[in-house]
Amino acid sequence: MALAEETKRIAAQFDYSDQDVNVGVREFLKQMHEGLERDGTSLSQIPTYVTGVPNGTEKGLYLAVDLGGTNFRVCSIHLNGDTTFNLTYSKVAIPKELMVAKKASDLFSFLAKQIELFLRTHHGAHFDASIRRRQTVSTPEGFRDEHIFRLGFTFSFPVQQFGINKGTLMRWTKGFDIPDAIGKDVCALLQQEIDNLHLPVKVAALVNDTVGTLMARSYTSPGKTSTLVGAIFGTGTNGAYVEKASNIKKPIKGDYDRSTGRMIINTEWGSFDNQLNVLPNTSYDIALDQESVNPGIQIFEKRVSGMFLGEIVRLVIVDMLKNAEISLFRDDHSGQNDWKSTTTIAPESGLFKQWGLDSSLMSVAAADSTPDHSSLRQELEKQLHIYAASLEDARAFKDIAYAVGRRAARLSAVALGAIVLQSGQLQEPGDEPIDIGVDGSLVEHYPFFRDMIYEALAAVEGIGPEGAKRIRIGIAKDGSGVGAALIALVAAGMEKKANVDYLHGVRNGIVHKFTDSARQLTATVG
Ligand code: BGC
Repeated sequence: MALAEETKRIAAQFDYSDQDVNVGVREFLKQMHEGLERDGTSLSQIPTYVTGVPNGTEKGLYLAVDLGGTNFRVCSIHLNGDTTFNLTYSKVAIPKELMVAKKASDLFSFLAKQIELFLRTHHGAHFDASIRRRQTVSTPEGFRDEHIFRLGFTFSFPVQQFGINKGTLMRWTKGFDIPDAIGKDVCALLQQEIDNLHLPVKVAALVNDTVGTLMARSYTSPGKTSTLVGAIFGTGTNGAYVEKASNIKKPIKGDYDRSTGRMIINTEWGSFDNQLNVLPNTSYDIALDQESVNPGIQIFEKRVSGMFLGEIVRLVIVDMLKNAEISLFRDDHSGQNDWKSTTTIAPESGLFKQWGLDSSLMSVAAADSTPDHSSLRQELEKQLHIYAASLEDARAFKDIAYAVGRRAARLSAVALGAIVLQSGQLQEPGDEPIDIGVDGSLVEHYPFFRDMIYEALAAVEGIGPEGAKRIRIGIAKDGSGVGAALIALVAAGMEKKANVDYLHGVRNGIVHKFTDSARQLTATVG
């Protein structure tokens, strides 16, 4: 009984009421506006130079790579032009030591090698032909441009963009920490390593995974209203949305297509309210932040995303273990346990290590509705080496995990709700859905995550239950691959246009100087 009561008391610290949601939304809107006005604010609101979303008719073969979490993915995408695509990919875990490497080139040369391996395996004929060509063609000018793969580089960290394939790293997140890369152009870093290996690949576009998700969702499910938001709820969290260009008050360097009157903004909402004006801050949140590689930043992300939720639960459980009064995961004898076996925690249990509790265990806890919580108890054994946990233990674990997960979902609704309000789409006539494409392990695997988001959205002033019904949150699988390909496609189109314009200029005796930053993305606006 003492355990149940103490669990309830701690779980209540993670309550996030309807009123909290509304306070959060108002602050989010305020910080969105600050970010549109100037640089260096909490919500970065980064202009992406992408000024439109696709309509599903785009075609072609592109490469895309994705760096942003635990894995590095290389893929080739064939866009069929009928809202469908074929995707081939390979995935490799990023060695831990490279996430905190001394030099940026340690990481980027690894990435280039994976691209080479992928090309050899999946596009062998093209790759061999390009090697033969290199051996027979003596001058670089002889190397035909159309033989070069255009690559969309999904790099899911905060980057200050200066053009469609240019941007400097602002800070690392999600456990990466390579100070040497900060302030450098990440596309140039990758291109350098690609060139060192003489690969027929040009980094054509720099893409945040949220922007890729937005593009992919628009490509695959075009409707009368195009997608408004692309969001990731995975290892990290972030969202990108379509903003009216006239609302962006801070200067945007370089040229871009003004004709659409819109620009996709990468909010970098992981850093919403770093100053803790309104975000909840339990002693567990404080401990997690202090022990992280980046204390004081990504404060919203540390309450919402998969990398951190398991750690919050772990910190709570470790705290509860210290409390002798409540005997969590502890029996004096087997008679106290409904499985008639004494509970033991192996010394090597992940419970005793930072990041040792994977958030996937929270999904198991949420999904287990069996009367004796048998699947959760088995998983506690498998993942955490907690043997013969009692039913009371399992209930306590489930309740804590639920409280942390539910708070994360309601905080996610703060970000989504604020963007929906900012767009003004609910005021527009008609009953077209407001489309939000999402990806990431939490939305995909955490049971009821979306339901909990909807419930909180319905409580937002200005949205309400009717407004929440108009919001359509749908999974956009492979967003970062397909989306990156789509942006590379339009970037390649712009290059061609720039070349044609250049030749035309030369013929007419006018020489324009084209810089990459002058190239813009003009995907067909749906
Ligand atoms: C990064 C974002 C990214 C998000 C989801 C965050 O840590 O700052 O750029 O979009 O993770 O991958």
